[in-house]
Amino acid sequence: MKKIAILGGKGMLGSDLAKLAKSTDYEVLIFDLPEFNITRDADIRNAVSNADFIVNCAAYTAVDKAETEREACRSVNALAVESLAKSAKNKYLIHISTDFVFGDESENILSENDMPKPLSWYGSTKLEGEKLLQASDCRNAIVRLQWTYGTHGVNFISKLLEAANRNPKLKVVGDQTGSPTWTADAARAIMCLIKNQTEGLYHFADNGYASRYEVAKFILLEKKIDKEVSSCSSADFPTPAKRPKNSRFNCSKIDGVLDFKRPSWQESMSEFLRQI
Ligand SMILES: NC(=O)c1ccc[n+]([C@@H]2O[C@H](COP(=O)([O-])OP(=O)(O)OC[C@H]3O[C@@H](n4cnc5c(N)ncnc54)[C@H](OP(=O)(O)O)[C@@H]3O)[C@@H](O)[C@H]2O)c1
Repeated sequence: MKKIAILGGKGMLGSDLAKLAKSTDYEVLIFDLPEFNITRDADIRNAVSNADFIVNCAAYTAVDKAETEREACRSVNALAVESLAKSAKNKYLIHISTDFVFGDESENILSENDMPKPLSWYGSTKLEGEKLLQASDCRNAIVRLQWTYGTHGVNFISKLLEAANRNPKLKVVGDQTGSPTWTADAARAIMCLIKNQTEGLYHFADNGYASRYEVAKFILLEKKIDKEVSSCSSADFPTPAKRPKNSRFNCSKIDGVLDFKRPSWQESMSEFLRQI
């Protein structure tokens, strides 16, 4: 039985990937803090040694804190990826990246050939991780995800539902556009890449685009929460890390590898909201 090592396997994406991989014909090995620290070379060597495939979901994901904890963030998102590439040289490695590598203000649909321009330290370190892996001789695929939500983590949905509980009225940014993406769908895409061992850079997201404000209205409607919600601009919600306004991905490259049709973000989110 082939073995998949999932680094960061207890996080939001890692948990859904582990669940899916276990339901197929793979043995799944999960590595995460505190026992496994991706910044320690010995931990990487140990995690990689037994596996046929490695999926790196481990990341420093505290986007705002990263602006001040710069070295901690870079050591996980960039330097550790270089070490991982060395240890996984003779294996197939899938590394997860993000739309935060972009800082596009236009309405372009972003493909893998578009020029990254990170606006935050987190985005810069994720881009550096991509580049270090691409410069290595490890067989790899990099999958950029965006606006992910799942059962095992804090995300836009959990934050919105919490805010709806606490506040009589809600304000949500209307000038950031992307595709909310269920980690269960991203997990399916990752399993397709493993099956084909396809190399290269890929964008993956659920189908269709919406602003954060439109997504918020959808969630409240689906959960039958009667709450006034208005649209505001990113400038009304200053955060230490700047967010990209345009996260519209072109996913046609990965569509050629997938054995399923990417569901619309509304379809997946409805299903997720029914389950929680
Ligand atoms: N969430 C999003 O909207 C989004 C969007 C685009 C791309 N991504 C990317 O998707 C991937 C998975 O992220 P996620 O959303 O599943 O986030 P997550 O829930 O924070 O998962 C990351 C996992 O990595 C672990 N980790 C952190 N530092 C580590 C270290 N030094 N050694 C080993 N493990 C460590 C975390 O442990 P702790 O929880 O204990 O810190 C957590 O279990 C990341 O590459 C992220 O950049 C996420």
